[in-house]
Amino acid sequence: MTAMTRTRRHLVLAVGSAAISVGAMALAPAGQELDRLSFVTAWLCLLLFAATLLVGPLHVRRTGRLPGNHLFRRDLGIWCVITGMVHFLLAFKVSMNLEYMELYVRGARQWPAPEVRELMYRWAVLGSLLIAALFVLLLALSNNFAIRLLGNRWWKRLQRASYPAFALTVGHSIAFQILEVRSAWLVAAFVIITVAVVVAQYAGHARLRGPGRT
Ligand code: HEM
Repeated sequence: MTAMTRTRRHLVLAVGSAAISVGAMALAPAGQELDRLSFVTAWLCLLLFAATLLVGPLHVRRTGRLPGNHLFRRDLGIWCVITGMVHFLLAFKVSMNLEYMELYVRGARQWPAPEVRELMYRWAVLGSLLIAALFVLLLALSNNFAIRLLGNRWWKRLQRASYPAFALTVGHSIAFQILEVRSAWLVAAFVIITVAVVVAQYAGHARLRGPGRT
């Protein structure tokens, strides 16, 4: 893999994420540009997260071995963290205010009851702080220096922080999908993405534990 190929890949991911974000903002109703950007960067993060977690199982399926330090997976992961952190910063502004609480949490008329909504909101925000901390750790691990410093074994152990980070992201997303009464197709897309990651990861681990393996 040449440095040029990786540079081009980062450029594609950067320009792609920026174009989708700018396009979504341009199409948003007046005054709702930041809400739209928060939503789009959240979904970009989820898609890139899923893609990152699918690289390993696909590699195992093709070769029967763990991928180790896989540069494509690393680059996808870096852009998952960048888009997730943009959403993280924006979400504080667009959803931590009285107007949001009145519309979706305390004042909402739909199921579930306001007390349950408030609990969901609190846990989802708390979970997101943990995700952000795990993202910072994962970003710090995404370079050769970290691998040399920690050694393969510890690097791999710490890199498994991506699993709790994904589980927390799924929990956080479910909470906001309920609070914001997402449309059926967004719920369906979310379920397909999550199930694909869980099934692929399970199949990958099962194959590695299969007959003839330690
Ligand atoms: C790095 C941390 C975070 C990640 C990975 C993350 C991920 C996500 C994802 C994947 C969704 C899509 C679910 C959907 O609404 O359909 C979402 C939605 C949402 N998240 Fe986060 N989130 C993070 C931090 C936060 C924080 C700190 C807040 C609030 C203070 C927050 C508030 C929201 C809100 C309000 C939505 C609904 C959609 C929107 O208007 O943006 N998120 N998040």
